[in-house]
Amino acid sequence: MNSNTINSPQTLSDRTILVCQGRCCRKDGSKKLLTMFQSQTPETIKIVPCGCLGQCGNGPNIVILPDKIFYQRICPQDVPIILNHINT
Ligand code: FES
Repeated sequence: MNSNTINSPQTLSDRTILVCQGRCCRKDGSKKLLTMFQSQTPETIKIVPCGCLGQCGNGPNIVILPDKIFYQRICPQDVPIILNHINT
């Protein structure tokens, strides 16, 4: 799992996780990741499937908004870790 911060300041509210469902990310398991995020994420955080994020070689990819933090090459074991990280 790799993450990259594009820019910063944010509050704990209005968080959204974009889960790429583009062809390459789906080939690498993003459909299962979407299902996991949808079932494990608190209601205060929105989960939104999205199209290609332009990082196909590093998928599956997600982006945490509003910070625009990319997580790349994530696997199912990373889901609770990411949720714990952004919920603190
Ligand atoms: S298909 Fe996910 S970044 Fe392109």
